[in-house]
Amino acid sequence: MKIKIAPSLLSADFSNLGRAAREAEDAGADLLHFDIMDGHFVPNITFGPMVVRAVRPLARIPFETHLMISNPDDYIEEFVDAGADAVGVHVETCPHLHRTVQRIKSLGAQATVVLNPATPVGALEEIVDYIDAVLVMTVNPGFGAQEFIESMPDKIARTRAMLDRTGREIDLAVDGGVSRETVRRVVEAGANVLIAGNSVFTNPEGAQRAVGELRKLAEAASASWICTSSG
Ligand code: DX5
Ligand code: ZN
Repeated sequence: MKIKIAPSLLSADFSNLGRAAREAEDAGADLLHFDIMDGHFVPNITFGPMVVRAVRPLARIPFETHLMISNPDDYIEEFVDAGADAVGVHVETCPHLHRTVQRIKSLGAQATVVLNPATPVGALEEIVDYIDAVLVMTVNPGFGAQEFIESMPDKIARTRAMLDRTGREIDLAVDGGVSRETVRRVVEAGANVLIAGNSVFTNPEGAQRAVGELRKLAEAASASWICTSSG
């Protein structure tokens, strides 16, 4: 699996998200992560489709929208229309998850299913064959710069084992507290998409250095997959 770095705009300068998007792209990011929050599913409010639309022409890399909102079905089309290439929905907000995933894919976007820290990997069992990616939250959603939850690498490994059993290449993203201190553990456990807000946009050495360092550390850690996978 390819290592992908996805800076999250949640920690960027909200007075100039366009500049932050260009900075992330110039730094070599593979994706740009938009944390959409409604103040209902999570105790914070960020931005909606209009902001995604405004930023879209300013960067070429794929945009992924992480919908931390109640009733995501009501907004999927708007986010894809605004320029989202991938839509992440929380299993906790989707009573008809199979239909929601089909809807995202019917609109031509990648479907990512998101698990909160306390949501079991088993919640993916019946949907895993239909999705493009899984996102395992490594903090409780709502804010950047939180403490990484130490028990998550084990959950990441169990999630990766489930994805591997499908025989398909399904991205496993981790989100929250991803930094130079935690990247090795999450990649060794099986994550290949690293969503990072605070460690990129508040890094005193700048986004370029931060993205490059995360990638270097992640690729070194992924070498352990190859060794273990080749037995
Ligand atoms: C938290 C968001 C994360 C966050 C990343 O609800 O989903 O994407 O911005 O957080 P840090 O700053 O820990 O990388
Ligand atoms: Zn996120």
